[in-house]
Amino acid sequence: MQLLALHGPNLNLLGTREPGLYGSVTLEQINADLQQRAAALGAGIDCFQSNHEGALVDRIHQGHGRVNGILINAAAYTHTSVALRDALLAVAIPYVELHLSNTHAREAFRHHSYLADRAVGVICGFGAGSYRLALEGLVAHLRASRP
Ligand code: DQA
Repeated sequence: MQLLALHGPNLNLLGTREPGLYGSVTLEQINADLQQRAAALGAGIDCFQSNHEGALVDRIHQGHGRVNGILINAAAYTHTSVALRDALLAVAIPYVELHLSNTHAREAFRHHSYLADRAVGVICGFGAGSYRLALEGLVAHLRASRP
């Protein structure tokens, strides 16, 4: 099973970015943890971060035929990007949306997601733990839906 973790804009600054909201764990640490946990679940995982919408779209396209499932924290693009939604639907790869913070407990503009209604599931509010929960949920979903 091959997975892809996508991190959107400003998540490269995790560790120092608004630690009261996002915690002190760095993206490197999150990726290392994902690699370790995915391996323990018998899956491979590639991790990719970009501050550019088109680069994320390209990475989704590259997953077509190669990737079984996607974990995506699209960060601010969650609330703005029809292009990311269209890319995910175009490749038809099952995905789990996740956020470190509870976006529903924050500003109204963060309550809407362009990705959520077509996701396998959505996890938010558990800090770096959201990645672990999303990984476990995605792997369980993919295992259950295998023919
Ligand atoms: C975020 C929540 C988004 O609203 C915000 O724009 C981010 C991070 C989160 O993980 O909590 O950049 O996706």
